[in-house]
Amino acid sequence: MEQTLAIIKPDAVKKKVVGQIIDRILQAGFTIRAAKTVRLTVRQAEGFYVVHCGKPFFDNLISFMTETPIWVMILEKTDAIEEWRQLMGTTDPNEAEPGTLRRDFAETITRNAVHGSDAPETAKREILFFFSEFERIAHL
Ligand code: CMP
Repeated sequence: MEQTLAIIKPDAVKKKVVGQIIDRILQAGFTIRAAKTVRLTVRQAEGFYVVHCGKPFFDNLISFMTETPIWVMILEKTDAIEEWRQLMGTTDPNEAEPGTLRRDFAETITRNAVHGSDAPETAKREILFFFSEFERIAHL
């Protein structure tokens, strides 16, 4: 079993489609191992997206991600990272395949409804960013 970090972003929260997205996650066979809502501060959002610092879309991304509380989840499944990326669809919703979450719920390349880790090392970092208590529990 593999784990990945999923985020339901402020555009989807504002549209009140969180329940529909969670239904689709469960129907696709993921186990939601942990979940919570978080209102990111600007500093926290900058820390999470540090790899994009300096890119032209960075400031918009930070203000977008701090608009409302977000939902963060640890998803578990065989090949969870790739499977969740398939279910999300491409970063730009205009290019996303029919049946993907971004095709159905996203607005633009920045306001794209959901986030997923892109590789095992990223998943580890991103899960610890939001769920550091899991690390502490693992060491008890
Ligand atoms: P996410 O999967 O959360 O990872 C980085 C985010 O930056 C991405 O989704 C989009 O919200 C945003 N993003 C990535 N590329 C672009 C781009 N070219 N223009 C605007 N926003 C982008």
